[in-house]
Amino acid sequence: MKYVLEIENVSKFFHGLVAIDDLTIKVKPGQIYGIIGPNGAGKTTLFNCVTGIYTPEKGTIKYKGENITGMEPHKIAQRGVLRTFQNIRLFKEMSVAENIIAGTHTKSKQKWYHSIIHTPFYKKDELKQWKKVEELMEFFGLSKYADTPAGDLSYGNQRKIEMARALAAEPELLILDEPAAGLNENETIELTNIILKIKEMGLGIMMIEHDMEMVMKLTDYITVINFGKEISQGEPDFVQNDPRVIEAYIGTDDEEDEENGK
Ligand SMILES: Nc1ncnc2c1ncn2[C@@H]1O[C@H](COP(=O)(O)OP(=O)(O)OP(=O)(O)O)[C@@H](O)[C@H]1O
Ligand SMILES: [Mg+2]
Repeated sequence: MKYVLEIENVSKFFHGLVAIDDLTIKVKPGQIYGIIGPNGAGKTTLFNCVTGIYTPEKGTIKYKGENITGMEPHKIAQRGVLRTFQNIRLFKEMSVAENIIAGTHTKSKQKWYHSIIHTPFYKKDELKQWKKVEELMEFFGLSKYADTPAGDLSYGNQRKIEMARALAAEPELLILDEPAAGLNENETIELTNIILKIKEMGLGIMMIEHDMEMVMKLTDYITVINFGKEISQGEPDFVQNDPRVIEAYIGTDDEEDEENGK
């Protein structure tokens, strides 16, 4: 398999205004693919098209060769495309462990009646899933918070829970929308190392991120978008020095973007 994800000539409009304009992006297995660009560029919209929240008006999206354009979000997740959100989405009153086990249900082969009649299959499967949750909590350093309500934890830990929940579904493509947003410097370094370890597991990773240091450290390939259009594509070193990219960032007066354009 050459590509895990192929986005081809995809466009998405809102009320006649273009949010994504003819984007083509191909992600190889085991690659960390960065999507960067100023605020409102269309980055999250692109991820929403890939995960089935939006159906693009033009173009096709293929996952492992299968056309998934316009497929329902849960079907795309079942196939192995899992994500985290720009604004963390957790069950805040539920414990850390319960939040993470929720992720396993995406992939579980359990039928609804198994949980009522508690078949041996159900018990065995349930045990397997809890084992996986334990391993994930260990991996993310969350074991000591297993029974703590997710909403009581720091922002950094909540980001980890969301990532653990996505991994619980055993994705082959992990999609991260601004994983370092709201994190302090130490938390960002910790998360960078976690993402590198996830990469070693062999998954494809696509990430939107404004923290340029993190992007340069992690990504193998980058597409830069502005006003929904690709303005540059290539390896981090190339993209960073591309005059079109520098211009796009300097052209905005957003504080965050000015910092990134330095
Ligand atoms: N559901 C929607 N309805 C109408 N317009 C939308 C919708 N979702 C996004 N947009 C518009 O599409 C454009 C792209 O938004 P998007 O959220 O994809 O940007 P982004 O690159 O993720 O920005 P940020 O870095 O601030 O998260 C913006 O102009 C936004 O207002
Ligand atoms: Mg966004």
